[in-house]
Amino acid sequence: MTTNLADFANRSTPLSRVEEHIFATHFDKPTLVIDTEIVARQYEALAAGLGHATIHYAVKANPAREIIATLVRAGSHFDAASRGEIELCLSQGATPDQVSFGNTIKKVSDIAWAFGAGIRLFAADAEEELEKIAENAPGSSVYIRLIVDASEADWPLSRKFGCARDKALSLLEMAVSLGLTPVGFSFHVGSQTRRASMWAPTLDQVAAVWQAAKEAGYELSLLNIGGGFPAFYGEAIDGPRVYAAEVMKLIEERFGHIPHIMAEPGRGMVAHAGAIAAEVILVSKKSEADIHRWVYLDIGRFSGLAETEGEAIRYQFATLRDHEPKGPCVLAGPSCDSADVLYEKRPVELPMGLKSGDKVVIRNCGAYTSTYSSVGFNGFPPLDVVVI
Ligand SMILES: Cc1ncc(COP(=O)(O)O)c(C=O)c1O
Repeated sequence: MTTNLADFANRSTPLSRVEEHIFATHFDKPTLVIDTEIVARQYEALAAGLGHATIHYAVKANPAREIIATLVRAGSHFDAASRGEIELCLSQGATPDQVSFGNTIKKVSDIAWAFGAGIRLFAADAEEELEKIAENAPGSSVYIRLIVDASEADWPLSRKFGCARDKALSLLEMAVSLGLTPVGFSFHVGSQTRRASMWAPTLDQVAAVWQAAKEAGYELSLLNIGGGFPAFYGEAIDGPRVYAAEVMKLIEERFGHIPHIMAEPGRGMVAHAGAIAAEVILVSKKSEADIHRWVYLDIGRFSGLAETEGEAIRYQFATLRDHEPKGPCVLAGPSCDSADVLYEKRPVELPMGLKSGDKVVIRNCGAYTSTYSSVGFNGFPPLDVVVI
């Protein structure tokens, strides 16, 4: 059996720097390896495509200090979901005017703390949230998050956040009466929206509310378009610059010129910058009649791969046996929870010779992995993070 990197010479997708690093390094436990150069490149490409829009990196996608520091150097702004994320951004050199508090569900004490730290831009989608902001962050700017219909995104966002269109204008009015400055609206098209054209129906809905607010006399200056920028998980996507430019064109067609557009890419900023070093623990068949093997990895649903829920996000894998014949397998994690099965409805093609101890690289998974990892479910350690 050949197990050297030369086997990758003929691969259609060449190994990235992190993937090469993983194959050349021994890891005791599942480890996410991050390349901040890729983050910087993604930022430049997205910024070029987004034109006059300001990027507020969605810190929740990956809060590694080195990523935040890289983005501060690049000139990014930040969308923070919590006090912890705000503290992180400020500790890495972001100034308060570069950080927005984008969670619509905030503790009163955190709003007061954020205001004290200089944060002046907050999201809201309910009366009580506006009251909390007015009392604890008086005079701040707020944008109202709208619920939009489910899009074609691979990881759609639910009705948990946002208000329906019939409440949007009354929330603007309430913000004014509370002494706040309502600057505009926000929405999220759904994470992993593979093609820019999929934004059109959502933008139509938001544009209708925007127009109604303008007709009612509100001087809106801000449209926060959220995230949705995709990563490559096997299905073709446009590059970040082309994709972002296409989204901006769709916005311009519907809204005309908006002075301040905020974009909050998370996945599209960091997914390509990371890969996970994992290992095969067991390959087995449940019965002689089984069509598929089961391949168990040392990482699963509870140790970073939460987005395999419903098999929504389909990660790509690389092994040192990729030149050998492949066949389908059910892929599962190591824990004693039966929900810890990654792909079963649509089995994964992996080398037939794969066996216990083999290294498996999970590609393009720099987003929503390290923070979804449990602290120690079943005694397995949380996903380690290494930056190269
Ligand atoms: C308010 C907000 N903005 C931005 C994002 C980032 O989305 P994405 O990773 O699809 O870019 C999220 C993700 O949940 C979000 O909730």
